[in-house]
Amino acid sequence: MSFAYEEPQGPGGETRQSAGGDVAVMTTQQGVPVSDNQNSLKQGARGPTLLEDFHFREKMFHFDHERIPERVVHARGYAAHGYFELTDSLADVTRADVFQRVGEKTPAFVRFSTVAGSKGSVDLARDVRGFAVKLYTQEGNWDLVGNNIPVFFIQDAMKFPDLIHAAKPEPDRAFPQAQTAHDNFWDFISLTPESFHMIMWAMSDRAIPRSFRTMEGFGVHTFRLLDAQGRSTFVKFHWKPKQGLQSVLWNEAVKINGADPDFHRRDLWDAINSGDYPEWELGVQLFDDAFAESFDFDVLDATKLIPEELVPVRVVGRLVLDRVVDNFFAETEQVAFCTQNVPPGIDFSNDPLLQGRNFSYLDTQIKRLGGPNFTHIPINAPKCPMHHFQQDGHMAMRNPKGRANYEPNSWGPTDGGPREDPARGFTTFEEVADGPKQRIRSETFADHYSQARQFFVSQTPIEQKHIGDALVFELSKVERPDIRLRTLSHLLNVDEGLAATVADGLGMALPDRARAACAPITDLPPS
Ligand code: HEM
Repeated sequence: MSFAYEEPQGPGGETRQSAGGDVAVMTTQQGVPVSDNQNSLKQGARGPTLLEDFHFREKMFHFDHERIPERVVHARGYAAHGYFELTDSLADVTRADVFQRVGEKTPAFVRFSTVAGSKGSVDLARDVRGFAVKLYTQEGNWDLVGNNIPVFFIQDAMKFPDLIHAAKPEPDRAFPQAQTAHDNFWDFISLTPESFHMIMWAMSDRAIPRSFRTMEGFGVHTFRLLDAQGRSTFVKFHWKPKQGLQSVLWNEAVKINGADPDFHRRDLWDAINSGDYPEWELGVQLFDDAFAESFDFDVLDATKLIPEELVPVRVVGRLVLDRVVDNFFAETEQVAFCTQNVPPGIDFSNDPLLQGRNFSYLDTQIKRLGGPNFTHIPINAPKCPMHHFQQDGHMAMRNPKGRANYEPNSWGPTDGGPREDPARGFTTFEEVADGPKQRIRSETFADHYSQARQFFVSQTPIEQKHIGDALVFELSKVERPDIRLRTLSHLLNVDEGLAATVADGLGMALPDRARAACAPITDLPPS
């Protein structure tokens, strides 16, 4: 026996449940028109479902395979399309095509993210924000994979897995959620003095932005710009929001997270859809070897910044976001930013964090996006001509055309495929490197506190109070007194007033200054 099915009506009274008129016919993935998408094929009305039902099997198997791994970090993010417009040519220092012609626009895709939370976490966590920009330049994609804070927790990529393990939920209990203070995170931090500059930023208002639109962005590392003669200029990249820099208070963040965990993504979606396009200036700090050698810190150390008073930021362009995505998964989830994606004229420095990142992103994306052909996904594909002999593999959408798939070859222009071009192709800066192979950290990376102190004292009194409040709040959630004490002893090296405030807030005595940071736990006085 069957029952009569009444089609629900659409808002205009029109029937929407079956094809006809403007409504397309549903098909299987093979293009076979579907007659009934509600009932599986059965042997009799109450009999078993038949294996023969290819439509049911296809629909269910595809659903079963919908999830891909979330990003190992920066899992929660939101993205939009736009463009970069050059306003000041950098042709004097780089041959990068994107920096040659004033007024020229380059398509852009930008993804903002939190770092530690999972894909379903809240938007206003106290956390660093990712600020990843993909520029589809005429000489290949350039990914500037930055953050909203100009420095980082660690100096060497070797430590990244430990940093992230310590920051994510603890492995036995799977809590606390990201950025609720916990023993593992502060244990790692208090044993990692180099992290204290970043900790000052992460405990400041910068880590709870009002909106993605009111954040700065930083490339963090020192990169190189290369001109046509191969001459190098060091560069740091900055994004400055035209909307101004704004944050929320911690109490506001807590309430917003409860009321609307999608607050930041909704804000970006609404702004763009109402024509209020967010905009950032691209600034560069340019400096040469002589500056790098005379600077108090090592320009290869990602826990340090270069003060803008010493090297002013030169504004060279604007980034405008003016279009939301058509599909979150296809674009925002499948986009793959990678620090190694640089066009001719932009090159890496020897920053050991950057060098490690260049390996990590491609490696993780091959897993996350299911194989070596993720550049065939439209959001990742360059928008300039592309010719190479990479072929096959899972999901190959466009293999090389023609007979030759190797080179050198002696086929003619039609069949022989692309050739290298020494003049136009990417070249690496010919830096001389010498010395024994060693597992070592340069002594020039040793000062962990001066810039942390500079940041703290540069803050207004109310901003300093917020940093103190954040540290008290976070450390009060740490159960082990020795971890709190060790953190306090580092804070003494940053600012004694701050350390005293935090100790007071925690109801603890300050550790002995002389035996402070880095002392073995057993050397420290009991709390
Ligand atoms: C994402 C590794 C440091 C910014 C990621 C991902 C990995 C990773 C594996 C996931 C990528 C994906 O699945 O597509 C590392 C390693 C680091 C490091 C090994 C240090 C050694 C940094 C630093 C910054 C940064 C210093 C900022 C300057 C980002 C951003 C994303 C990201 C913005 C998200 C990209 C997106 O929106 O898809 N990182 N990271 N990371 N990382 Fe890093």
